[in-house]
Amino acid sequence: MMRTPEPEIMDGSEQSAAYANADFTAVNAGFVASFAARFDTFAGGVLIDLGCGPAEICLLLAQTYTTAQVHGVDASEEMLGHGRRAIAQAHLDGRVRLHQRYLPLAGETGLPLADAVVSNSLLHHLAAPETLWQTIARVGRPGAAVYVMDLLRPASIADASEIVDRYAAGEPDVLRHDFFHSLCAAYRVDEIEEQLENSGLRGMAVDVISDRHVCVSGCLPAM
Ligand SMILES: C[S@@+](CC[C@H](N)C(=O)[O-])C[C@H]1O[C@@H](n2cnc3c(N)ncnc32)[C@H](O)[C@@H]1O
Repeated sequence: MMRTPEPEIMDGSEQSAAYANADFTAVNAGFVASFAARFDTFAGGVLIDLGCGPAEICLLLAQTYTTAQVHGVDASEEMLGHGRRAIAQAHLDGRVRLHQRYLPLAGETGLPLADAVVSNSLLHHLAAPETLWQTIARVGRPGAAVYVMDLLRPASIADASEIVDRYAAGEPDVLRHDFFHSLCAAYRVDEIEEQLENSGLRGMAVDVISDRHVCVSGCLPAM
């Protein structure tokens, strides 16, 4: 099916609260465990999470890499508000910082150069998807680890509905609605490969990791 874009920024208070209060514990823990397995010699340093939302992955990264400095970037102050409260509760304000910024970043990034750049479920929001790959290349140091996970667009509307019913049967309507529209807005593998090619990142691995997820991983060129 053709891609149907969805709004980029999740700044509605009801939508942000539903997302922040949803239980993505297993998904987020899986994301961090997969990152750690993919980059098993990675020891910490500066990590940047693009489109961090309520910052659950930022927190898990800080708890996994106990000397790391973690920076989350998102355009939605509503989402970041949920993240700031969770960071304060976890007493991780000293090592996790959130930045309200819209991608593509204009002017100075205001971020330290990253040893690793990660992103979960941002790509499908972007009308100009090269924005993600170009931002990763900009905020990562040469050789930085890159780990991006997102949804895959199913073949048909019926397939998208079936995936929502299978994996989000008991979720609130607002989350089921978002999930369906996110599936319809997601990119296919061939489209992602073209984005990487256009952004000078053709060396990245693009792996289909479930019936609805794709993962892009690798290292930035070492210069
Ligand atoms: C589906 S949420 C994912 C949040 C988080 N990564 C997670 O896994 O829970 C996508 C996030 O990307 C943010 N976003 C979308 N487009 C953006 C842009 N152009 N610049 C900055 N943030 C953006 C939204 O505001 C939202 O918080």
